[in-house]
Amino acid sequence: MTTSSAPGKVYLFGEHAVVYGEPAVPCAVGVHASVTVDRRDEGLRIRAGELSLDGFAVEYRPGTSVPEIDAPADLLAAATSYVGEAVEQARAAAAERDADTATGFELTVDSDIPLGAGLGSSAAVVVATIDAVTRELGVTLPREELADRAYRVEHAVQDGDASRADTFCVTMGGAVRVEGEDCRTLATPDLPLVVGYDGETGETGDLVAGVRQLRETYPFAADTVSAIGDLVRRGESALAAEDRATLGELMNINHGLLSALGVSARPLDEMVWAARDAGARGAKLTGAGGGGCVVALGDPAELERALSYTTACERAFHAPLDTDGLRRGES
Ligand code: MEV
Repeated sequence: MTTSSAPGKVYLFGEHAVVYGEPAVPCAVGVHASVTVDRRDEGLRIRAGELSLDGFAVEYRPGTSVPEIDAPADLLAAATSYVGEAVEQARAAAAERDADTATGFELTVDSDIPLGAGLGSSAAVVVATIDAVTRELGVTLPREELADRAYRVEHAVQDGDASRADTFCVTMGGAVRVEGEDCRTLATPDLPLVVGYDGETGETGDLVAGVRQLRETYPFAADTVSAIGDLVRRGESALAAEDRATLGELMNINHGLLSALGVSARPLDEMVWAARDAGARGAKLTGAGGGGCVVALGDPAELERALSYTTACERAFHAPLDTDGLRRGES
C-alpha cells in the first residue's frame, strides 16, 4: 500500500492567459487530495472516499466503456479520465525503468479540495496518483518528471487546452511562475488569502474553448489576454516586494479582465464584491471560472465572516500557503 498527497492551488494572477504562453503565478494552498494505492490481480478499481461530494466506487478496464453508476457525471469523468490516464503515465514511467508493471490497482482518493472549482483538484489527484502508483511499483520519480507527466495527463484529458501551471504548482508547492515550458518556483511570503466557494463547478475545457473562440473573433480579446500577461509581470515584482496594496489592485484588475473574457459568473462576482466590501485589498475568481471559487487578499477572519454571510457562498476558508507540494506518505 502506498499513499501520496498533493495540495490545491489558487491563481494570484494569470489563469487562461497562461494557455497562450503568457506568464501566470499560481500558489499552492492548504487543502489536499490523497491517493492510496493497493495492488490487485488485474484491472483498475477507483474508490472515491471523500471528494467533497458523495462517495462512489467504480471498476472498469481502460479501453472498455465506462459502466453506468449513480454519480455526478463530472465526478465520474474526473475519476475515470484523469485517474485512468495518470495510472497509464505511471506504468509508462515505471516500465522505462524496467520495473515489473504486470499488476492491477485499487486506488482510494480522498480530497477536501472542491472538485472542478478552480482549486486544482484534478492536478492534485493526478500528481498524487502518478507518484503513489510509481512508488508502489518500486520507482520514485524526480518532481520535475512527475510534474511533466501530470501535465501530459491534463493535456490529453482536456484535448490539448492545458498549461503546465496547475500540475507544476501542486507538485512543487509554494508560489510558482509558469510561462510556456518555463516553470520556476518563487520565494513567496505566506499571504493572508481566503477562498470563497459557491458550490458550483466550471467545465475547464468549455471555458478555455470559449476564451479561444473570443480571442480568434475579436482583437480586443487577444489584447485582453496580452494585458493579463503584462499584469502578471507587474505582479511578480509586487510579490517579491510583498507590496500587498499593489498585489490587491492587480488581483482586482485581473478579475475585470477575466470577466471581459466571459469566464466570470454572478455568484463569483457577488463573492468578489462581498470580499472587497469587507476590506479585501483585492479579490478575483481563481482557475477556469464559470462557477467555483474566488480568492481574496486581506484579513482572514473578516473575509471569512463576510463571505460566509454572502448568499452565493457555500463555504469560505483561510487558505495558507502550502510550501511542501507533493507529500510522500506510507509505502
Ligand atoms: C485552470 O485551473 C487554469 C486554466 O488556465 C487552464 C490551464 O492553465 O490549464 C484555465
